[in-house]
Amino acid sequence: DAVQLAGYRHYMQKEIFEQPEAVADTLEAVAGGARLTPALFGPEAEKTFAAIDRVLILGCGTSFHAGMVGRYWLEEYAGLPTTVEIASEYRYRVSVPDAKTLVVAISQSGETADTLAALRHAQGRGMTQTLAICNVPESAIVRTARLAFLTRAGPEIGVASTKAFTTQLTALALLALTLAKQRGRLPEAVEANRLDALRRLPAALGRVLQLEPQIEQWAQRFAERQHALFLGRGTHWPIALEGALKLKEISYIHAEGYPAGELKHGPLALVDREMPVVAVAPRDDLLEKLKSNLQEVRARGAELFVFAEDGSGVGGEEGVHAIVVPSHDAMLAPILHVVPLQLLAYHVALVKGTDVDKPRNLAKSVTVE
Ligand code: G6P
Repeated sequence: DAVQLAGYRHYMQKEIFEQPEAVADTLEAVAGGARLTPALFGPEAEKTFAAIDRVLILGCGTSFHAGMVGRYWLEEYAGLPTTVEIASEYRYRVSVPDAKTLVVAISQSGETADTLAALRHAQGRGMTQTLAICNVPESAIVRTARLAFLTRAGPEIGVASTKAFTTQLTALALLALTLAKQRGRLPEAVEANRLDALRRLPAALGRVLQLEPQIEQWAQRFAERQHALFLGRGTHWPIALEGALKLKEISYIHAEGYPAGELKHGPLALVDREMPVVAVAPRDDLLEKLKSNLQEVRARGAELFVFAEDGSGVGGEEGVHAIVVPSHDAMLAPILHVVPLQLLAYHVALVKGTDVDKPRNLAKSVTVE
């Protein structure tokens, strides 16, 4: 293990730090001067993509959260109505099949029983336009879907998924932009800009990783708490969910992720001095709304811990701790903002002394129902 860990204390930490490289490898097909093409998703993709008018994304756990971000992108950029379903729900629910739907199964392992069964369920109901976004080439899900995009995260050992997630998001960004292009919604100059932002993403991730010492300083305050609330809006709502999932998986602290606009409809009742609130504050159209949500939380005495994009102007007041996340590209912001949440969960678990790479009761790949 000492050799495999290459100086890191845990696989999770190593995998968090491998994200720039994992994302760069996943983007290899669009490196240099390459342009977006359906061929990124397989030889039959152009024909398949021309035959669809909506998208259904299926996944479990972290892969489901990636799908939730993908939904925002597919609707905004490609103009395709998109739904995201937890695979274990979709496979048993009476839903309305639609042959013109692209079914996207997202899975790190490609072997998750529920995701595979959900994909087969869709196929059995006549939904044959299918795509796997997967990290393992010969896996069952890749073999079952018509099209495949392979993320190039490399082996992920830590049970809590990190680099698989950011490479899944990278794949979904490529999918949304490729479909946008094929549907005439991506002018050439915009395509060039978006590809440029993607190619600079690994370097931007590297800058976010440098926040580790600051995040480490927050960890102690969480380790003593029983609960934590994570807030975000828009594409950063799923990032809040993912941050909460990471914390509960490896530190065993009860954590909930919420879209900040929903606070008044329940979670505000839980907020008091004992409940730290983590927020992700990108500099987007929802920033002002998020700030007023945060004031509501602060007014109830909660301590706020904000990952605030450079220039967002969050922080500085009493009880509001902020770490500035370097700016990159607005579309890709969720890929950057999840990284500090991964690091926070990791350092809280370190303080608590839990088994970071093999948390109790959880498995890396859930191949039985
Ligand atoms: C397990 C793992 C998670 C993962 C989920 C889905 O719960 O512990 O990290 O997100 O399965 O796995 P998949 O391989 O389908 O992405």
